[in-house]
Amino acid sequence: MTPAALKTYLEARKQLVERNLDIHLPAAHRPPQRLNAAIRHSLLGGGGKRLRPILLLAAGEAVGGGLEPLLPFACALECIHTYSLIHDDLPAMDDDDLRRGVPTCHKAFDEATAILAGDALLTYAFELAATPVTGQPDGVVLAMIAQLARDAGIHGMVGGQMLDMQAENRETTLAELQNIHVHKTGALIRASCLIGARLGGGDEGQIQRLNRFGEAFGLAFQITDDILDVTGDATIMGKSPGNDQKHQKASYPALMGLPQARQEAELMVNESLTALSSFSASADPLRALAGLLLDRTH
Ligand code: IPE
Ligand code: IPE
Ligand code: MG
Ligand code: MG
Ligand code: MG
Repeated sequence: MTPAALKTYLEARKQLVERNLDIHLPAAHRPPQRLNAAIRHSLLGGGGKRLRPILLLAAGEAVGGGLEPLLPFACALECIHTYSLIHDDLPAMDDDDLRRGVPTCHKAFDEATAILAGDALLTYAFELAATPVTGQPDGVVLAMIAQLARDAGIHGMVGGQMLDMQAENRETTLAELQNIHVHKTGALIRASCLIGARLGGGDEGQIQRLNRFGEAFGLAFQITDDILDVTGDATIMGKSPGNDQKHQKASYPALMGLPQARQEAELMVNESLTALSSFSASADPLRALAGLLLDRTH
């Protein structure tokens, strides 16, 4: 895939996801108005990359699945991700003021509204995920809902966020840091790939390989997020750099320095690509996405 083709692909997928989110979510003027306005502010008011829904759709494509039936589940992933950002930015957690180029939810509204907007997005995600998928028995969709719950919850993202908070202001080992990243960010990204593969009709081997792809991609993604917190530009990223250092977060650059953090990211990108080696050109968008990770600026 050429860089220009990838750009067009990503733009089209982003629009598709955003259009669907817009259709599914209650309008901002609907009661409870403040809650709906806050949800829309965080979900659609700024620029998100829509990476997780795009990965889900691309994993589905890689195994020959259609786009349309996977859209509600793809949107569910974006709802869960956005809720995690709203809560991650709260004063009790990372205490950030800027997200996706606009004030964070608790800044634009207030803390109580931000907590509730997050809660609402999390629960709405499961309503969306419970949409029947054309061509798949309900039992398969049910299994993927359970998968999503696991990877977003105690043994996935939420558990990882707890470990992240507990690792502030102290030294960590590489194994510990990797475990934090695999859970707080890796789990939802891996889930996106696995669910796309399963709902797209992939066989067991394909599902397992796309799960492995997502695992390596997810870790690489958080390592590069840590790197951008040191090297990135607020206007481009839409969030303020320097917060990891301010909060003494466990991060790859803090633990091993920037050059080695870059090497670790590269290692993971290569692992993700290896997981795709048996796939045809149908996995090219996934390959191209992995290729973007090392030079991403937002
Ligand atoms: C930011 O995720 C938080 C992490 C898990 C690293 P993204 O970089 O995907 O944020 P958006 O969705 O594009 O805003
Ligand atoms: C966030 O990690 C992981 C989540 C589950 C939200 P970060 O705290 O590094 O994400 P940013 O840098 O604020 O986007
Ligand atoms: Mg955080
Ligand atoms: Mg944060
Ligand atoms: Mg970060």
